Formats: sequence, C-alpha cells, structure tokens
Amino acid sequence: MKDLLQKLGISIPILQGGMGNISHAELTAAVSNAGGLGTLGVGTLPIEEVRSRVKKTKSLTSCPFALNIPLSVHPDPKGCLKIAVEEGVRAVVCSAGNPAPYVEKLHANGITVLAVVGSLYHAQKAEQAGVDAVIVEGVEAAGINATDELTTLVLAQQVLEHVHIPVVVAGGIGTGRALAAMLALGASGVQIGTRLIVTKDAKVSSSYKEAVCAADQRSTTIIGRSVGQVRRVLQGEYVGKLLDREKENMTMEYWKALTDERYHIEGAMNGNTKEGFQNGGQISALIRDEPTVNELFTQWMEEAERCLSSAQKSFIE
Ligand SMILES: Cc1cc2nc3c(=O)[nH]c(=O)nc-3n(C[C@H](O)[C@H](O)[C@H](O)COP(=O)(O)O)c2cc1C
Repeated sequence: MKDLLQKLGISIPILQGGMGNISHAELTAAVSNAGGLGTLGVGTLPIEEVRSRVKKTKSLTSCPFALNIPLSVHPDPKGCLKIAVEEGVRAVVCSAGNPAPYVEKLHANGITVLAVVGSLYHAQKAEQAGVDAVIVEGVEAAGINATDELTTLVLAQQVLEHVHIPVVVAGGIGTGRALAAMLALGASGVQIGTRLIVTKDAKVSSSYKEAVCAADQRSTTIIGRSVGQVRRVLQGEYVGKLLDREKENMTMEYWKALTDERYHIEGAMNGNTKEGFQNGGQISALIRDEPTVNELFTQWMEEAERCLSSAQKSFIE
C-alpha cells in the first residue's frame, strides 16, 4: 500500500474518481489538500478548458493530483496527455481505452500511470502495458461501467489474486469500514465518486446532492445495456425517457448523442432531471450528510483504523 502512496505523493489511501465534464478544481484540490489524490476528469472538455482547470487546481493546492482521461471518449486524448506533461501533473488515470501506447512517454516524464478496468482480462492487459496500478471498478459504481457488470468484491478478489501491481478498488465504497475491508483484502486504496458528490466542496446542483441523500436501494438504475454501454445513474424523468427509447432499436451513435456530456451537465450542474441525467452509485442509499472532504476523510481514516484493529483483535482472541 505504502509504495503506491509514495509514488503518488499522497498520505491517505483515498483517490477521487474522474467526473467527466463536471470535474472541477475546487473538489479536486480539496481531495488533494485532505491527503488523498484529487483527480480532474477531462470528459469531453475542449482542450483549452482542460488546461485552464488544471491551472486552477494548481492555484488551489500544492499537493499532487491526477488527470483522468477517458481515452475513447475525449476527441483528443493525446492533447490531454500533452497538457499533463506540460503542467507537471503527478499522475494520469486512463479509462475507457487501452493505455499501452502512452505508458512509456508518461513514465519518461515522471508521471505515474493508472488504468481503470472492469475485468481481470483488462487488468492483466494493463499490467502488461506497464501501468503502475490498476483501479478495479465494479458495477455498483456511478457512471459508465464495464459491460461484464462484475461486482466490486468479486472483481477485486480476482484481480488481487492474479495481478502483481498495486490494486485500487472502486464502486460502492462509502464508509471507513469499506476502506478497511479493501485494505484487509490487499488493495492499496480505494477510489470514490458518489460519496464526494455530497460534500461541501463539490460544486454541483443542490438538488443532485438532495437526490443522492434521498436515495434508497432502488434509486439507481442501469441505462444503455441494450446498446452495449452500461451506465449507472439516479432514476429521473430523462432517465425514464432513455429507458423507453432503449426499447426501440438504436445505434450506439444515436445513444451517445442522447447521453452526451451536455445532458450530464444539465442534470448534475443545473439539477434539471427532465432534460438531463445524474450519475449515481448504489452507495447513494447510505449517504445522508454533507461533510467537507477533509471531515469525511478524517472520519474514514479513524473508522478504518478502528475496524482493522478490532478485526485483528477478534481474530487473535
Ligand atoms: C459524476 C460522476 C462522473 C463520472 N465520470 C467519470 C469519468 O469521466 N471517467 C471515469 O473514469 N469515471 C467516471 N466516474 C466514475 C468515478 O470516477 C468512480 O470510479 C466511481 O464513481 C466509483 O464508484 P462510486 O460512485 O460507487 O464511489 C464518474 C462518477 C461520477 C459520480
């Protein structure tokens, strides 16, 4: 665990997940300032906007942070990687694509490379490509997930068994207990998304935060399965319309147009669920308060420590 933390220059094993076009400097900097790895997602943002958000993050923290690049989603992934190099970003998290063509150049520039994967197959491919760590993400997670739809616990165990680089676990992590459980499993840390949406540092619509806090076990759903793109979102009017549209035959191209980042911004930033969607993970059902990121991480670290030591005690006795 310590190796990855050292490599990333962070003091606690909590990473922020990329958040597409709603990623913003304030939340990223808050995560990094609290000792974790803040991550700025590039989504489909214009290249000059990516640079400006990186610069803004740098103005809010002197701690390391990462850039999350969904390789097959952003129109110019190479341009984003160039910005990471030029701006001295500490780590790059590759998702939705093959990191292999980029690893060598990023390493040559002193950048740590992580890859988000949803299957053992892709974890092994990423390991072969030379990435420093994999982030395994189960279908509990908010946003776009792997079509294999493996649960976090099953995926994490499979990958920890067969992969020899550090593993970070994502999808459904919402407490210090879960952090402790993943560390006990052998993970080097956790990556979180939904929990961070309901923090004072997240500049998203208040109705998005309220929807997460009001969620129960049935409040999230998967959209896109019929076209081969699995995305977990909070239920809502636009989401209902999308599910109806899925009953018709649809091309992936058309689907992508209907779930474009514009609709994400409309739902998440403007709170308009009639004309937009909000990513939300299954852990929403457990989230009921809105701490600062710093308060949240302090609480999680204390809870994780308590859990690990009481588990060890009860094991020995
Ligand atoms: C609003 C939002 C947007 C997201 N966008 C991305 C993204 O652009 N790239 C990515 O790799 N993951 C994205 N994710 C997934 C997160 O990075 C993270 O892995 C996931 O939320 C972890 O699961 P959890 O929501 O159960 O904590 C997004 C999640 C949220 C909540």
